[in-house]
Amino acid sequence: MSALLEIQHVTKRFGGLCAISDCSVAVETGHTHGIIGPNGAGKTTLFNLITGIYKPTEGAIRFRGESIAGLRPGRIALKGIGRTFQNIRLCKELTVLDNVRIAFDSQLHYAPIEALIRLPRSGRGEQRSIDESLRLLEPFGLLAHAHDRAGDLPYGHQRKLEIARALALKPSALLLDEPAAGLNTGETAALTEFLRWVRGEFDVTLVLIEHHMHLVMNLCDRITVLDFGQTIADGTPEEIRANPRVIEAYLGGADDE
Ligand SMILES: Nc1ncnc2c1ncn2[C@@H]1O[C@H](COP(=O)(O)OP(=O)(O)O)[C@@H](O)[C@H]1O
Ligand SMILES: [Mg+2]
Repeated sequence: MSALLEIQHVTKRFGGLCAISDCSVAVETGHTHGIIGPNGAGKTTLFNLITGIYKPTEGAIRFRGESIAGLRPGRIALKGIGRTFQNIRLCKELTVLDNVRIAFDSQLHYAPIEALIRLPRSGRGEQRSIDESLRLLEPFGLLAHAHDRAGDLPYGHQRKLEIARALALKPSALLLDEPAAGLNTGETAALTEFLRWVRGEFDVTLVLIEHHMHLVMNLCDRITVLDFGQTIADGTPEEIRANPRVIEAYLGGADDE
């Protein structure tokens, strides 16, 4: 079986700094794939390369066998790759509902701006995106907050809203950049179960950057370890846990559970 998402010998340089160096990762359909490594290892850069924010200096990125390296972020999102950000990026001034609706509307055949200023010809699409958005918000525990300003939500709810918004595009792969950052141990355990539910309910392949080892080891089918932009290990959670290079570079003392 060929992988859903393939990063092949990718290098990304910023001037003299090599943030990603000859990195290869294969994410299988249906898997939850963890990307771990110390701060500055290049994890977020890898997501920015996959989602079109950066173009690789060298190497190939394929999604469903098709080259996506260098495509614009919007095109890549519509091809089925959703993401969340290490620092939450919501439209904080808009309501919870409208944050999700913008994502829905970008799939429909009219410009989102038309929907927001309520031009008559977008009427039917508008109702559909409202209905679908509300349906999506419900299992995220956000229905009661649908008309609240997104920026007013508690932090954990904002993280969930970002996931809901990414799922509104019906991605087949969802990239999560440190989804448990800022959550306490209890909240992280709840997020682990929530992501397990998301994976089944939305039939989505997850790629997860995370420092909480309990979450990573519990959820991931496969893990890639980066250090200084290079892949230093790739394997099952058991293999990663036992890998001396990983323990030396990263795992020693890093288990914060
Ligand atoms: N746009 C950029 N310009 C210059 N350097 C960058 C840029 N983005 C990331 N870097 C550098 O690339 C390295 C990897 O960063 P990052 O991917 O954010 O690491 P991680 O997410 O693993 O903590 C760091 O040294 C960071 O400073
Ligand atoms: Mg990062």
